[in-house]
Amino acid sequence: MQLEIQNLSVLVDNKKILDNLNLKINKGEIHAIMGPNGVGKSTLSKIIMGYPNYNIESGDILVNSNSILKLEINERSKLGIFLVYQNPISIEGVLNRELIKASLDANDISYKSFYEYVLELDKNIQKLDMQKDMAHRSFNVGFSGGEKKKNEILQLLMLKPKFIILDELDSGLDVDSLKVVCDAINDYLKENPTTSVLIITHYTRILEYIKPNYVHVLKDGNIIKSGDYNLAKLIEKDGYNQSFSVGE
Ligand SMILES: Nc1ncnc2c1ncn2[C@@H]1O[C@H](COP(=O)(O)OP(=O)(O)OP(=O)(O)O)[C@@H](O)[C@H]1O
Ligand SMILES: [Mg+2]
Repeated sequence: MQLEIQNLSVLVDNKKILDNLNLKINKGEIHAIMGPNGVGKSTLSKIIMGYPNYNIESGDILVNSNSILKLEINERSKLGIFLVYQNPISIEGVLNRELIKASLDANDISYKSFYEYVLELDKNIQKLDMQKDMAHRSFNVGFSGGEKKKNEILQLLMLKPKFIILDELDSGLDVDSLKVVCDAINDYLKENPTTSVLIITHYTRILEYIKPNYVHVLKDGNIIKSGDYNLAKLIEKDGYNQSFSVGE
């Protein structure tokens, strides 16, 4: 899926968080956004997903050249946009497998039979090295931080999105779990090469597994520098208070 952000300006609590932001992610491309805490990375991911309550002052978001600004979250999900939350919520009383099935139904994704659906769910639970009973527990209730992140990727594998936003997937996952989860995402991308990815992260480790075509630095409401993986390494070494002149 191609996604293009055009001249996007957003106010949160009367403060300008995004200021005339432009970003184009073509089909099959992987982009990473890094930036200091509180700069607006999660805000951007929620705006792409269609969260209400954000004051979009100007600009547009296009999917395959059509504006999606007027679409609700569920309609954007149906188009194939999927957000892995930085802090996934829990829902007491709604079983994990029920929620996943409801999401599939809402997106018109059907399996030949309920049995086929259960097989696919079990296969992905195994692939992510999750405990088998997790499908039958209340959604994320009592899950550890890492288990919640794996559960996000379980939903991803079932929903088969075309545009994936990973908002700090790497926070909360231990070294082995991060590898398991990234391997699963890479396998998915190999099978679905036109799917695009936006990775929000503070660290290079996830980018060693899921290799970005471009790395961007978000600061003061805008992308102040773009580059490749080496830019991420530079940030890890020297932080954000540098001139970013190296390499160009
Ligand atoms: N509902 C809200 N009300 C008030 N301020 C908000 C709200 N949502 C976000 N903000 C503010 O907007 C700014 C951007 O927040 P955001 O969560 O997008 O940052 P971030 O770049 O994802 O940071 P981090 O790296 O810590 O995850 C922060 O200063 C935050 O406090
Ligand atoms: Mg954030």
